[in-house]
Amino acid sequence: MDELTIIKPDDWHVHLRDEAILERTVPDAARQFSRVMAMPNLTPPICNVAQAERYYQRIKKWVPKECLDFSPLIALYLTEQTTVTNIADILNSVCVHACKLYFVGATTNAGYGVKDLTTLYPVFEAMQTYDIPLLIHGETAEGYVDIFDREAYFIKHYLLNLIKQFPKLRIVLEHISTKVAVQFVQQAPKTIAATITPHHLLYNRNHLLANGIRPHYYCLPILKRKEDQHALIKAATSGNPKFFLGTDSAPHDQAKKETSCGCAGIYNMNVAIELYVTVFEQVNALDKLQGFASKFGAAFYQLPENKTKITLVKKNQQIPERLDYGKGHVVPLMAGQSLHWKIVTLET
Ligand code: DOR
Ligand code: ZN
Repeated sequence: MDELTIIKPDDWHVHLRDEAILERTVPDAARQFSRVMAMPNLTPPICNVAQAERYYQRIKKWVPKECLDFSPLIALYLTEQTTVTNIADILNSVCVHACKLYFVGATTNAGYGVKDLTTLYPVFEAMQTYDIPLLIHGETAEGYVDIFDREAYFIKHYLLNLIKQFPKLRIVLEHISTKVAVQFVQQAPKTIAATITPHHLLYNRNHLLANGIRPHYYCLPILKRKEDQHALIKAATSGNPKFFLGTDSAPHDQAKKETSCGCAGIYNMNVAIELYVTVFEQVNALDKLQGFASKFGAAFYQLPENKTKITLVKKNQQIPERLDYGKGHVVPLMAGQSLHWKIVTLET
C-alpha cells in the first residue's frame, strides 16, 4: 500500500508546554491531530478550570489557519489540595475533560503531585460520580524501587486497589511501557484503557543505553526490554479498543537533554503520525491504524469521531537535526534520519 487515508487522529497525551514554546508545539500538533489532551504539568501546574481556560486561550493563539478543526482538551493536575468543587467545576467547562495523577517526584514537574492516594479519595469519588476520566502516570516514585520496575510496581501495589475502591471510575494508564501493563489492561474491566507512544513502539532500552548513552531516547517511563516493546506493538496493532494513541511528546531544550543530568522527554510531534504508520506497516497492520489513532480514544472519552481526514503517502522525508524551540532548539526523535511516510493533504 502506497497511500492511506484515515480519519484525522487524536493525540490523547501530549505536553504542549507554554508561552513561547507553543509556537513550536501547537502548529506541529495541529497538522497531525484534530484533538489533543494537553497535560497540565506546567510551572505552576494547571489545577483548576479557570487556569485551564486561560491555558486553552494561549494555545488557541498558535493554531494555524489551515487547521481550524484543532481543538485542545486539557487535563487538570491533581494535588493533595484538589477539592471536590474543583471536580464539579469541570462539568461546566468546555475544554477540561480529565484529571491527571502523578505521584510526587515521578517525572518532570511532578513536585506538586500526590504522596498518599487516600488523601484524594473524596476527589476520586466525585470523578466517579461525574464520570470524569482519571489519567495516570503509572509509576511509583519510591526511590528504592528499580526504575525499570516502577510501572509494574505501581500496578501491583496501587492501581489494583484503586480499581477495587472505585470500580466505575474510568482510568487511562498513560504511556504504558511493559508487557505487564499490556496484560493488565487486557484483563482489566472495560473502564480501564491505555495510551501507547511511538517511541515505546519503535525502541527499547538498548537504543538508549547500548554502545553509548543517547539522551534523546530518555523518557519516563524509561524504555524497557525488547520483549516489552514487542508486547506493546502487538497491543497497539491488535484492534483492541482499550489501546489508543498518545504520543507523550514532551520537548525539552537541547541543552537540558545533552547535559550531566538530562531531562526526561522525547519530542516526536513533528512527525508523530508518520512514526506510528511506520510501526503498523512493519507488522503488516495498516488496516488497524485508524482504530488505534482515530476511533478508540474518541469512544473511550465518549466524544464524536472527527470529520476531517488525512492522507499519508509513501514518500521519503528527512527529519531535521534540530528544530527551533523558543530561544533555543529541540532535537526531535529520529533527528537526521529519514522516514518513508509523509502526510500530504488535509481534507475536510
Ligand atoms: O518523559 C517524560 N517527559 N515523561 C513524563 O511523564 C513527563 C514528560 C515531560 O513533561 O517532560
Ligand atoms: Zn506525559
